[in-house]
Amino acid sequence: MPKVSTMEKHIKDQWDANAIAFAILIGGQGTPHHRMILNPCIDSLMGNVEGKRLLDAGCGEGYLSRYYAEKGADVVGVDISSQLIEICKEKARNNQEFHVGDICDLKLFRDTSFDLILCNLVLLNVPCLFKALEEFQRVLRNTGHLVFSIVHPAFDFYGPGTWEMGEKDSETNRRIGLFFKIDNYFDERPYERYWRSRDGRKFPRAISFFHRTISTYINAILNAGFQIQDFREPTPITDDAFFERERRIPFFAVFKVGK
Ligand SMILES: C[S@@+](CC[C@H](N)C(=O)[O-])C[C@H]1O[C@@H](n2cnc3c(N)ncnc32)[C@H](O)[C@@H]1O
Repeated sequence: MPKVSTMEKHIKDQWDANAIAFAILIGGQGTPHHRMILNPCIDSLMGNVEGKRLLDAGCGEGYLSRYYAEKGADVVGVDISSQLIEICKEKARNNQEFHVGDICDLKLFRDTSFDLILCNLVLLNVPCLFKALEEFQRVLRNTGHLVFSIVHPAFDFYGPGTWEMGEKDSETNRRIGLFFKIDNYFDERPYERYWRSRDGRKFPRAISFFHRTISTYINAILNAGFQIQDFREPTPITDDAFFERERRIPFFAVFKVGK
């Protein structure tokens, strides 16, 4: 891992190198885990977005920006990767603008200039959790709210945890999870992992993650002056056998916070 001073550049380079592979993985509408577990929860916490100015912080290839623009929001997407922002711009239709920017320092935007902020699966990828939440507090209107999701830190199979696997299930073609094992939960640390495409090919670069405890997330929220309005550990909206493991432990954690 590089020093903190060069960390942002390192992370930007990783996402730039992975931009095409990431956009293919997302497939314009999210992975099955996003669609069947996370996005319905995000949607219910976001509420009515019509006519609202919405910041999609760490927008990736922009599928949620496009989705909420379709629902009538004026969406501003920001991402540290110029390659991903290029993809967003190519795919954008109405009510959307995209900028290269860092959620650790949202100097592009004035105080209280957004009604809603969405930060989907990004805060576990940044070194600046406390600063990002302070920036969200600054740019959010007093009546607005922020919804953010993370991979659940207590069951994070990229970080301190992993499934103990059994045989492959012939029906789902997924290995059966015997039990989930976790260790060193309190050891907050950066780590890097390669993601793989759906056909098993490694992404060009490893991706940086930052393991933190749930209490650190809650303290960052409170430190920024937010109040927690809702907290969810969403479960699959389908009874498809493919998601058997995700019915046993939470894959994602989702917060709704306001002023
Ligand atoms: C796992 S992806 C999620 C993308 C998108 N929110 C989604 O749900 O598809 C994480 C995103 O965070 C972006 N990112 C990482 N660090 C960032 C930072 N400091 N500021 C803005 N975006 C950042 C990456 O470029 C990447 O697009």
